[in-house]
Amino acid sequence: MKEEILKLLNEEGNLSGEIIDADVNDFASSIEEIGKKETEHIKSSEISKELNTKYVGKNLYIYKEVSSTNTIAKFLARNGIENGSAIIAEKQTSGRGRSGKSWESPLGGVWLSIILEPDVDYSKIPLITLATGVAVAKTLEKIGVENPEIKWPNDIMINGKKVCGILTESVTNFNIIENVIVGVGIDANLDINDFPKELQNITTTLEKELEGKVDENLLIKTFLEEFEEINELFSHECYEDILKEWRSRSYTIGKTVEIRKPFNEYYEAYAIGISKEGSLIVEKTDGTLEKVISGECVIKN
Ligand code: BTN
Repeated sequence: MKEEILKLLNEEGNLSGEIIDADVNDFASSIEEIGKKETEHIKSSEISKELNTKYVGKNLYIYKEVSSTNTIAKFLARNGIENGSAIIAEKQTSGRGRSGKSWESPLGGVWLSIILEPDVDYSKIPLITLATGVAVAKTLEKIGVENPEIKWPNDIMINGKKVCGILTESVTNFNIIENVIVGVGIDANLDINDFPKELQNITTTLEKELEGKVDENLLIKTFLEEFEEINELFSHECYEDILKEWRSRSYTIGKTVEIRKPFNEYYEAYAIGISKEGSLIVEKTDGTLEKVISGECVIKN
């Protein structure tokens, strides 16, 4: 059991620069305790100062280094951490992306996860991802980014390049959703030349787009506020309002796309819109319409 938990943190069980060596039963409280200390770059005092939310980010857990904030969030959620808590790390050693891909997470980015306790069934989870995309886009607008766009389902783009990804995961018990973990990775103060070669042409960073470093703490605070606002719409089932915000920032609708499904299945289509459940509606080359619930969507023009 202890070994498993160590793996959850990172290879050496090293969390926030401290070696965890506690009783298994004390693990959750050790993890919580360490998350209450300040780190060099991410400061709870700065984020909490004038934070205008009721529950999102009221409880902050900040780490110097973890395997993945989503993994820590899942672990803490199972140990009863409350709705809206945010887990933030300066660095992730095994950051996770969609479709089992890894996610580069060096110092300088914003890597965070929010624990939610929504009273919903599985069909509504894609809408949480779309709502989070809107919250990120609005955050970027507030810090001075012109025209951030959302590529279905969850990539935030600036000038056609990805600056942020979202990974939504659920914690279930006998098929009942107990928590949803919303993981957000923003390439903030990063140098594009440090990215792997294959990502350099398709990725951007806030530092590059804004021609200067961004205040990471302000970025996080603004996101927490935007996230709560849109999550309130979600909780009150105002799904159409969320979709309206999403559509007005869409990078996908009106473009020719390639839909890539598992097992190398792919086809070209024209993206017409987004359904009320958050699926992408496409028109295939034979004229038939399809709702794409999951899969990769590559823009062709
Ligand atoms: C994607 O576009 O593939 C999703 C990337 C999600 C990355 C974030 S960073 C914070 C959280 N922790 C993770 O391990 N992943 C998400």
